[in-house]
Amino acid sequence: MKGIHEIIVAAAVLLLPWGLRADEGMWLPSLIGQRIEDMQAKGFKLSAEDIYSVNQASLKDAVVLFGRGCTGELISSEGLLLTNHHCGYSLIQKHSSVEHDYLKDGFWAMSREEELPNPGFTVSFLDRMEDVTSQVLKGYKPSMSEAQREKLVKKNSEKIIKKAVSKGKGLQASVEALYYGNQYFLFVYKVYRDIRLVGAPPSSIGKFGGDTDNWMWPRHTGDFSIFRIYADANNEPADYSESNVPYRPKKHFKISLKGVKEGNFTFIYGYPGRTQEYIMSEGVRYIAEVFDPQKIALRTERLNIQNKYMSADHAVRIQYSSKNAGVANSWKKWQGESKGIKRLCTVAEKQAYEARFKEWAKGGPYEGVVERLDSLYKLLEPYAFMRDIYSETVRTVELASFAYNKGDSTAFYKDYYMPIDREIFVSMTESFGRLIPEAYLPEYYKVQLEKYGSVEAWSEAFFADESLGLAAEYYRQFENWYKTSVAPEAQRIECEITLLNRDYMQGQMEFEPSRAFYPDANLTLRVAYGHVSGYQPADAIHYAAASTLDGIMEKDNPEIFDYNIPQRLRDIYAAKDYGPWVNEEGKVPVCFIATNHTSGGNSGSPVINADGNLMGINFDRVWEGTMSDLVFDPDYCRNISLDIRYVLFIIDKLAGAQRLLDEMDFE
Ligand code: ARG
Ligand code: GLU
Repeated sequence: MKGIHEIIVAAAVLLLPWGLRADEGMWLPSLIGQRIEDMQAKGFKLSAEDIYSVNQASLKDAVVLFGRGCTGELISSEGLLLTNHHCGYSLIQKHSSVEHDYLKDGFWAMSREEELPNPGFTVSFLDRMEDVTSQVLKGYKPSMSEAQREKLVKKNSEKIIKKAVSKGKGLQASVEALYYGNQYFLFVYKVYRDIRLVGAPPSSIGKFGGDTDNWMWPRHTGDFSIFRIYADANNEPADYSESNVPYRPKKHFKISLKGVKEGNFTFIYGYPGRTQEYIMSEGVRYIAEVFDPQKIALRTERLNIQNKYMSADHAVRIQYSSKNAGVANSWKKWQGESKGIKRLCTVAEKQAYEARFKEWAKGGPYEGVVERLDSLYKLLEPYAFMRDIYSETVRTVELASFAYNKGDSTAFYKDYYMPIDREIFVSMTESFGRLIPEAYLPEYYKVQLEKYGSVEAWSEAFFADESLGLAAEYYRQFENWYKTSVAPEAQRIECEITLLNRDYMQGQMEFEPSRAFYPDANLTLRVAYGHVSGYQPADAIHYAAASTLDGIMEKDNPEIFDYNIPQRLRDIYAAKDYGPWVNEEGKVPVCFIATNHTSGGNSGSPVINADGNLMGINFDRVWEGTMSDLVFDPDYCRNISLDIRYVLFIIDKLAGAQRLLDEMDFE
């Protein structure tokens, strides 16, 4: 029987459906002081100043935005940097050829001289962040229209940015809206541009499990790659030059070999891309009930076509592996997202919340906000739907965008297989015609159908035309239709929604004054904290929190592309030649899961333990928890990380790159 205390606790949790759920949140580092007590209560041993400081070196100085969409972390005093294999993928690919297939075989620079430059690629350190709301809104009057306000925000922001970047070498800055424009923050970055590839495991380790295991637990992917930042003689950013030297970071992570146990405190420092935690029920309903299922269905068709040809021909598999991974990645994520939202009844829960909000708002400045948002979302739906259909159907015909955009033809044809494109053309053009309401169908589409009699016949002419004139025309016509019949109205309504969301956000903050609101992710630096934890994905199944090399051997199968590991790893396993990279049972740890609130962009983020040392690299979330971009559920939301000991094991035993281990500091 439950004690009275437990009943009270359970009731309190039930009463707080929109209160913060345990471990939810992506917090601004400069305001982490507001969370530090909670973090410390959960085991964290450092201070707010250790996480973020402008006066002294802090952990933020060891974290970078890697390119434009991943995170990386410094792990030596000589600029050595860790990120995911899938984050370094395109750079590794660029250095690969038939003679040196670094994707397939891996790459290890055995000396500094062998490290490979990547011109054009950058990593950005956050120099500082600052609340600039009053400067951004200087001159604002409530009588202004939204367009006038936007103009003012833009003008003031430009001034702030100009001033900020004038203060040092290699600085870049941006002003970002938080809480839908209720607050503005300046972010100043120092951008380094001589970034060299140091090492990457073969894809059979770095992408082990491929799309079969993607977004899933249990996982065994060795998803890491290693780079080094170079700087000029003064440690300042510089273009690639032979005379550049390894960058000396203000701070780098010590590596923890203490291991990973259920309940251990974990903290993720990185750049989550986009979340929408505070939008109203209609927005969530559209995503979960319209957008996700529709896009999933269309991508299933495309994936079926690609997979059919890929499994029949090895060359086609190579050509389409990266494209296929991209299509499959979101396809799988949306399935988890839409399922999760249904399971949590998020739409109904949000509606109930909105009903309470409306009651509270009566007679005040927020009266009518929810109602207006509701009708705007309904107005937007047909346009948002057409936009989604457009981007997932006619826009995916490869030859059309190539013909129109006139890309590099060698690069295009290297990875192009016409039978796939042709089947996709037929399937997607037909889907477009079936899904777009009759009244909105472009004239062009109707005329072509009439002319050829069927999409099939249209495709024959389309692919027979060697001048690519028909392909370019196809692209141009549909784009023109989108730009005139869909985009303007969609953008107009969305602009109104953004404006109202600003009020709704502010209203929610006043409605629940004791709730801690973290701003939605927008590719700015955030802190998420939680703990190592297994979960129960379904009735009678419990998942442990950590995986080991044993699991790789269980999956290993030379017949299955995604599970065919290098022979060397088999040999190491047979000889049990693990070195010190083992857990207390003598097994090599591989991945682990925890309750941190992460999103796309957190790939490559450092996973930090209670002492501030590096225990892993974040690279994914579990499928059942991908609705956390909209709503977080502590029972199902888990981020997936690579155990740092597996990284060291691969560097040591598989690559024999001892020189890299020698640079690192251990806890
Ligand atoms: N799901 C991870 C992310 O969203 C990894 C994607 C790369 N891996 C893959 N198998 N497609 O980026
Ligand atoms: N793999 C994702 C990325 O590239 C991270 C996983 C997620 O969405 O949480 O950012």
